[in-house]
Amino acid sequence: MLSLATEIAGRYFASCLMNAAGIRCQSRRDLDALVQSSAGAYVTKSATPAPRSGNPAPRMATFPNGSFNSMGLPNNGLAYYLDYVLADEQKRPGKTNFLSLAGTSLADNLAMLHQINDSAYTGFVELNLSCPNVPGHPQTGYDFEATRQTLEAVFDFYQKPLGVKLPPYFDLAHFDAIAAVLNQFPLSFVTTINSVGNGLLVNVETETVVIKPKGGFGGIGGASVKPTALANVRALSQRLNPAIAVIGVGGIMSGKDAFEHILCGASMLQIGTQFGYEGVAVFERIAKELGDIMLLKGYSSIDDFRGKLKTLA
Ligand code: SIN
Repeated sequence: MLSLATEIAGRYFASCLMNAAGIRCQSRRDLDALVQSSAGAYVTKSATPAPRSGNPAPRMATFPNGSFNSMGLPNNGLAYYLDYVLADEQKRPGKTNFLSLAGTSLADNLAMLHQINDSAYTGFVELNLSCPNVPGHPQTGYDFEATRQTLEAVFDFYQKPLGVKLPPYFDLAHFDAIAAVLNQFPLSFVTTINSVGNGLLVNVETETVVIKPKGGFGGIGGASVKPTALANVRALSQRLNPAIAVIGVGGIMSGKDAFEHILCGASMLQIGTQFGYEGVAVFERIAKELGDIMLLKGYSSIDDFRGKLKTLA
């Protein structure tokens, strides 16, 4: 019997496929579509304490094998998403989903977490330490000391299951350094990677950048970032306490990409760019393609091959 089920921090998910924060998860309508889809869970658009309209348009673009954006955290504010997940928990008790937070300061993050801690919410929080698109606010995940201070302040009071969304790292010393910080805390999961921040696309015809915010700099997603995502999933899986699950995101367009992420150690897979293009049908398609690969290889569950990537002798 083939199963794509997975577990994170003792919570069961019937499918290891879900959306990535930011894509088609900003409005109730988007979230309702995810609830009705075959995704194993959903994550809400990263929230700030108050609604934000985000950066000026044009703020997203596509290019061959990739997506590009500097959205700047447009969202409907924490109350909107907290209301949504609370109502959903009442309707579907026992279902775990992910409430994403991306305050632009530690104070904002702590204020939102206090609100969630004091609420009836029982699901996961994905604390986004890696948005590259807010002018004047560097990504916390690239500052190891700030990340440690953030998590110290969070776990000083926060009692519910929480994970962090990380930026991509590019050096083995940085994998060691961030893992050493994360291993000090009772995290349920890490989500890796956010977009590869501050890339630049050029329009040769107009001799201009292609998006307006930040002088044209933006985060890269989609197929182009898969090798970076796989490296981060693999490197963090090898370094983190086994109690911290790794959620893989980056360049998952097919069942083969999903299989690769799991082989590198991912327990759950988030689909961003391709979900944006394809909508909720992507979850069924990729589940089918992943299941077909598993059947061919004689695997019946993702645990049969999760983290079992081999190196060459
Ligand atoms: C954005 O809204 O700018 C994207 C969010 C993110 O990359 O974390």
